[in-house]
Amino acid sequence: MNTRYWTEVNRTLCAKIISELHYEELLSPQKTALGWQLDGATQQWRFHANTTLWGMLEVDPKSICRADGAKVEAVALVLDLRQSLGMTDINLANFLEELQQTLYSDMVRLEQLENLTATDLVNMGEAQRQRYLDAHPKAVANKGRLGWGADDLHRYAPESGNAFALRWLAVRKTCCQAGVAQGLDYQTLLTQVLGQAEYQQLVAKLSGSVDDFHLLAVHPWQHQRFLSSQFATLFASGDLVDLGEAGPQWLAQQSIRTLSASDPGVPFDAKTALTILNTSCYRGIPGKFIVQGPQLSAWLAKLAASDATLKRQGLYVQQEVAGFFCEQPYQTQIAKGPYRYHEQLGCIWRQRAESVIGDHCRPITMAALMQTDAEGMPLIQALVERSGISPAQWLTQMFEHVVVPLYHLMCQYGVGLVAHGQNITLVLENDAPVGCTIKDFHGDLRLVDQEFVELESLDDDIRHTLTKLPAEHLVHDLLTGHFVTVLRFISPKVTGMGVSELSFYRLLRQVIEDYQQQHPELRHRFKQFDLLSPTIAKVCVNRVRFKIGYGDSDERPLPDIGEPIANPLMM
Ligand SMILES: Nc1ncnc2c1ncn2[C@@H]1O[C@H](COP(=O)(O)OP(=O)(O)OP(=O)(O)O)[C@@H](O)[C@H]1O
Ligand SMILES: [Mg+2]
Repeated sequence: MNTRYWTEVNRTLCAKIISELHYEELLSPQKTALGWQLDGATQQWRFHANTTLWGMLEVDPKSICRADGAKVEAVALVLDLRQSLGMTDINLANFLEELQQTLYSDMVRLEQLENLTATDLVNMGEAQRQRYLDAHPKAVANKGRLGWGADDLHRYAPESGNAFALRWLAVRKTCCQAGVAQGLDYQTLLTQVLGQAEYQQLVAKLSGSVDDFHLLAVHPWQHQRFLSSQFATLFASGDLVDLGEAGPQWLAQQSIRTLSASDPGVPFDAKTALTILNTSCYRGIPGKFIVQGPQLSAWLAKLAASDATLKRQGLYVQQEVAGFFCEQPYQTQIAKGPYRYHEQLGCIWRQRAESVIGDHCRPITMAALMQTDAEGMPLIQALVERSGISPAQWLTQMFEHVVVPLYHLMCQYGVGLVAHGQNITLVLENDAPVGCTIKDFHGDLRLVDQEFVELESLDDDIRHTLTKLPAEHLVHDLLTGHFVTVLRFISPKVTGMGVSELSFYRLLRQVIEDYQQQHPELRHRFKQFDLLSPTIAKVCVNRVRFKIGYGDSDERPLPDIGEPIANPLMM
């Protein structure tokens, strides 16, 4: 155990706990002449902090101390504040497990970050960069991965950086829901992923007719922990055939269940089912959108290629070109059983970011921009400096190529995509923003609940399957998903480049107003999807977990709402 890392990750996590739980209105620290103080049951916790434009406290981890002078540990802080957090003892104890798992992985990440500069981090490929990122910015226990032990984390967690092979199963077509993009021969995809020789070797292991089966890639952990025992009935009947491990080596992305091949020549990412609780839910693959995923992807890609605004702003779609799902035949008979039992076996093939953007461009997830290197240098600053353009120009381009296309997709077509930093990838040319990619359409894409004529080109079945939301809720895919969950953490990082937070949001407002002026035909829609409202509803992800706890449920959790936030675009 490296005690320096232990001390540092605890301080960093204490700072995040104070900051986010204050933001979610669970904690009420007081400002004093000497800084800030927070009274727990047994202790006074003192620290220095800046207040950002969002009213959030940016706590300096190094400044945190306890009145009794004892060492600063995140779990001790939580226990001291338990009264304010309102958890039952059962939930609190479970939360401690999630928090301690997070600290464990935080130490691994810290070790990785040593000796790397922000410039090194922005220069590397996206698949390689994923291991250095700091997971969900709002969830305090953001690397919980409940169900994984130290060996599993070492093999499969993104920060370990270890590549691994996927396991291949043949599933009889009659037991499987499948969606494959029109015009795509799935066998061609498999040979692109596996190579011709390995594909042939794999198929040769199938004694039955190859045409009766789909080949699925599954996560090796899921196979050994769940599939081999829980799907034994299908293995026994010959409807499922284990073909063993094969193919390229894969690296975990930040979402842990989506993987990129370490060989950049493989043009597809694999999204696999993991019955692991990470941040808000178990990370399985539900069957609901499998069949329609490729068609929905193709529809989005067609919009991106044909709509003048989306084209100009460089919106790229990482299409989910094929998806497969196999139900557990007994669990499926229990309609209201835990959702995790209904999502254990599935696989989605998605175009890799690099394969959909121009050769002269490169991707970086929006989540990466809010990160800093070990010395505290923000990655966004390293990019701006390399680009040679001014910070204000760089930020304006970022808004034009991310917020504008996403907002246009919403206002013109009634389509919302949860635009958090793990779903949206910035496209760079010469280190400056020129576009963005979108992904994750199985659940994170929703439609407005009105009859927009622009939605008529989308297949009726797909329209009926997708979640529909009133406009004032759908707009939160941007307001909450992007402004609160991404920009709230980026804007304090640009002040070091001489751009105040106020200027940051004024630049964004200018970009939105310019876009709105260029589209007078959408003025009624702009009122419905109002980004310039005086306040924004506050969605509290930690509070949800504290409230619902860790017990099983037949549905994924719903958000908890706090007091409205003053919209920084209107300041
Ligand atoms: N910056 C981030 N913002 C949001 N989620 C993050 C971030 N970094 C890591 N995560 C993790 O990524 C996952 C995001 O959930 P989401 O449903 O968008 O993605 P996914 O469906 O798991 O994967 P994919 O986006 O590849 O389809 C969660 O497990 C979350 O904890
Ligand atoms: Mg996602």
